[in-house]
Amino acid sequence: MKGKLIIAGSMLALLMSGVAYAKDACVECHSKISPGQVKDWQVSRHAEEGVSCDSCHGDAHSSKEDYKKAVMPAEQVCQQCHEEQFEQFSHGKHNFGWTSLNAIPATHIAPDELMEGGGGCGGCHNMGIKTEAQKKEQLAKGYRYQNNSCDECHTRHSFSKKEALDPKACQQCHMGYDHPQWEMWSSSKHGTRYLAQQAGNLPEGAAAPKCQDCHMKDGDHNNHTAWGFLGVRLPLPEDPQWKADQITILKALAVLNPETGEPGPVYGAVAAVDLARLTKEAFDTERNKMINICSECHSEEYAKERLSLGDSMMPKLDRMMADAIETVAALYKDGLITKPADYPFNYPFLLTFMETGGAEGRKDFNKISYIDQVLLQMYMKHRMRAYQGFFHVNPDYAYWYGYSEMTKDLGEIKELAKTMRATHK
Ligand code: HEC
Ligand code: HEC
Ligand code: HEC
Ligand code: HEC
Ligand code: HEC
Ligand code: HEC
Ligand code: HEC
Ligand code: HEC
Repeated sequence: MKGKLIIAGSMLALLMSGVAYAKDACVECHSKISPGQVKDWQVSRHAEEGVSCDSCHGDAHSSKEDYKKAVMPAEQVCQQCHEEQFEQFSHGKHNFGWTSLNAIPATHIAPDELMEGGGGCGGCHNMGIKTEAQKKEQLAKGYRYQNNSCDECHTRHSFSKKEALDPKACQQCHMGYDHPQWEMWSSSKHGTRYLAQQAGNLPEGAAAPKCQDCHMKDGDHNNHTAWGFLGVRLPLPEDPQWKADQITILKALAVLNPETGEPGPVYGAVAAVDLARLTKEAFDTERNKMINICSECHSEEYAKERLSLGDSMMPKLDRMMADAIETVAALYKDGLITKPADYPFNYPFLLTFMETGGAEGRKDFNKISYIDQVLLQMYMKHRMRAYQGFFHVNPDYAYWYGYSEMTKDLGEIKELAKTMRATHK
């Protein structure tokens, strides 16, 4: 109760300082300096409520000489007035975006401009409340912006709820190479219905689910799914072949040590960034939530069957995937591919992404292993499409861009391995 009062008090103080400033200094000067930005703020609920520039940026700066004194507000500034959304967000999967990015070896090989600079991976992974250590590291590298995740879906400075409810707010990140949810959804029956409705060709009340209906139900900022991104889970399956295949995949992710089968260097990161559901209960909780959502428009039986068909595709995809990994692993074992110094094991390692050959590879691109790149593409691009497409009700992605491309990758890997062996001295 006392905590609530303090928050209410500081909110009032912030609001009052906002009202005082709204009419003067910041807005007046910035109307000349950056008029588009001021207009954007003027159409926001914040402007209506007297939440002004200084409410978020402080009042330490007042001229073009001292602009570096303006605070770049982190999520905690929003928290002062939006405790509920902050709380939910802090328990969600988005809160791991920055940390999971930094847990991947590829991040530390690729240019900083793409990471802390936000021009590549870091542009989408600027999701998550940064720790003091993470902020320090970012500043030490000379990067001053990218301190806030809340402006990713309701972008600054209009900070609009309506914008965040538009599936296009998700499209900017959930698209492309390894997670084309926008492409899959928008060309599925669900998405085409939604788009037809937007164009006025379906009555307003007609059912047309969009991202937020399935993943941010009732405005809940806490988002998780059962299978997650990597399509692995614990406990391992009972079926012996599928179990062996999932173990092979976990070895290529260095979650398990390929020589001993014991936990490998990436094992800790999986739990730390919530990369996979690690108990049956955790998986079932998310799955049941989803079935309840589907059941608003479909029969529960229908929903259950559709989702379990998706599950039963997994062992089929994993059989092909494991076959491919084992084919490449045999080339390492037989000395046809030399272990890069920064690979954890003499075994293919999917988490260097295309820079197969590791950091060495970047200094000397001649060392890049092409067969490893085909393997990465099979995992990251095509296996993703095969199961993500199934769950997003998109037959073409599930088959042609997913399953079918995986068989092509496997064929290519086998052919390359044969040639490599035939030409090896
Ligand atoms: C007399 C003019 C003036 C006043 C008053 C003023 N600013 Fe600025 N502000 C500037 C200029 C000039 C810049 C630098 C713009 C640029 O780099 O293009 C700037 C930059 C900023 C930046 C960006 C800083 C960065 O590192 O990119 C923020 C945020 C900001 N101002 C907020 C405020 C707030 C909040 C107030 C009121 C407390 C305020 N400004 C008052 C002129 C002003
Ligand atoms: C509700 C909070 C909030 C309010 C109110 C607000 N800002 Fe911001 N502003 C932000 C956030 C969040 C960022 C992004 C910070 C980051 O990326 O590190 C930002 C960034 C900026 C930047 C630097 C980035 C850019 O796009 O140029 C400027 C300049 C700026 N704000 C000016 C203003 C001005 C002028 C006003 C008042 C008209 C204002 N802000 C009101 C939250 C706010
Ligand atoms: C000083 C208090 C204060 C701060 C700080 C603040 N807000 Fe708000 N915000 C409000 C008030 C008041 C409203 C209007 C009532 C409501 O919707 O809660 C509002 C409304 C909103 C809305 C709903 C807008 C709509 O279209 O209905 C969003 C989204 C939002 N704020 C996001 C943010 C974000 C993101 C930050 C941090 C960058 C932030 N706010 C910082 C007070 C604040
Ligand atoms: C700025 C980029 C960005 C935007 C915008 C964005 N996301 Fe995400 N989303 C991410 C990232 C990055 C992750 C992975 C987080 C991590 O690393 O753990 C993610 C993860 C997720 C997950 C969790 C998947 C899992 O592993 O279980 C869901 C669900 C999700 N987002 C839905 C949405 C929805 C719905 C929207 C739009 C309302 C949205 N996202 C907008 C970047 C974004
Ligand atoms: C276009 C935006 C975007 C870019 C660029 C991007 N990512 Fe992602 N990333 C996402 C989204 C969205 C997810 C969640 C996808 C899902 O769950 O299907 C994600 C998921 C991940 C995950 C898994 C997180 C988890 O816990 O489930 C890792 C690790 C990751 N990305 C690393 C990277 C690296 C490294 C790069 C650059 C080489 C990168 N990403 C580039 C948007 C992006
Ligand atoms: C009709 C409901 C529905 C809609 C609409 C929907 N999804 Fe999903 N989404 C699912 C289901 C079901 C899964 C798989 C859940 C599981 O693992 O059990 C999923 C999984 C995900 C995942 C985790 C990785 C994956 O793809 O399997 C992300 C991220 C995601 N969805 C984002 C989005 C985005 C972004 C949109 C909009 C462009 C969207 N979804 C639209 C139902 C939906
Ligand atoms: C993944 C996209 C996404 C991110 C990131 C995000 N929001 Fe939202 N936000 C939404 C959506 C969608 C809604 C509309 C929910 C609804 O009404 O169903 C919303 C609504 C809101 C509202 C209006 C609530 C109301 O009902 O009036 C506030 C306030 C808000 N968000 C604050 C925040 C804050 C603070 C953060 C950062 C901690 C944040 N949001 C991060 C998507 C996001
Ligand atoms: C807001 C309502 C709504 C929700 C929620 C919803 N759907 Fe649908 N779904 C529809 C409508 C409407 C159609 C189009 C019906 C048709 O095919 O004529 C459809 C079509 C489908 C189809 C294609 C059927 C066909 O005949 O081609 C599948 C599969 C499906 N939904 C599965 C799901 C699953 C699984 C979920 C939950 C993850 C879900 N839906 C959630 C409304 C919804």
